[in-house]
Amino acid sequence: MSSSARWIGAIAAAAFVLGAAAPAPSAPHPPGYFGYGTTPTPAQIAGWAITVRPDGQGLPPGHGDVTEGGNLFQVVCASCHGTFGEGAGRYPKLANGGKLTGARPDPTVGNYWPYATTLYDFINAAMPFPTPHRLTPDQVYSVVAYILNLNNIVPDNFVADRESLPKVKMPNRHGFIWKDPRPDTHDTACMTNCRKPEDVKIVSSAEGKHLTPRTTGSLDTSLPQ
Ligand code: HEC
Repeated sequence: MSSSARWIGAIAAAAFVLGAAAPAPSAPHPPGYFGYGTTPTPAQIAGWAITVRPDGQGLPPGHGDVTEGGNLFQVVCASCHGTFGEGAGRYPKLANGGKLTGARPDPTVGNYWPYATTLYDFINAAMPFPTPHRLTPDQVYSVVAYILNLNNIVPDNFVADRESLPKVKMPNRHGFIWKDPRPDTHDTACMTNCRKPEDVKIVSSAEGKHLTPRTTGSLDTSLPQ
């Protein structure tokens, strides 16, 4: 017997002894139980439930002003976004995007974002890249105030908090079409006296017509063939 075979034998014997000592299985699990995961605690759920909605719902207590935000921004944000939000290298600029109607529109917070509250949501969740979640609510409020001020949307003495942010009027607030007017289907929904499913005949199918790009195989140009 080689030494490795002896080792395997010893491990198998140990496993057998451990197995024999294991407690009897508890009550059978319901169907669909796979033994993965645990029920999250309220604290765990709170850690994920950080979304701030456009109307300000979800904004935490706290506040921050433009000067504090400017100081913090230079330390943790300017290396990528530039001292005045002009963007360093290929990192996004956060201010002075110009007109959206130009030939090469440059969407930024000031000319594009419809809600100031989203700044809190995004920075709190994702910045500073690539190690977010290390700013306090007061710090997030302060850089939000600074970025809004860079975009000439709020005055120098603006204080961002859960009351003031939802009231900020963003220049492009009404530049979005929130309801897609296109119908999902051109058929009218039948609510009464509808055709029986067994009477419905399929007269045409998309199958084999190369209408959708394939997800495997060579690249499909989506052109009719
Ligand atoms: C290491 C580089 C880096 C640092 C530091 C950084 N960011 Fe960013 N930031 C990015 C990148 C990259 C994106 C684009 C992310 C994306 O589109 O998903 C971005 C996007 C943003 C946006 C959205 C821009 C838009 O119009 O879509 C804001 C606002 C922002 N950052 C704020 C901040 C603030 C405030 C800080 C400091 C607390 C910060 N960032 C620090 C790299 C950085």
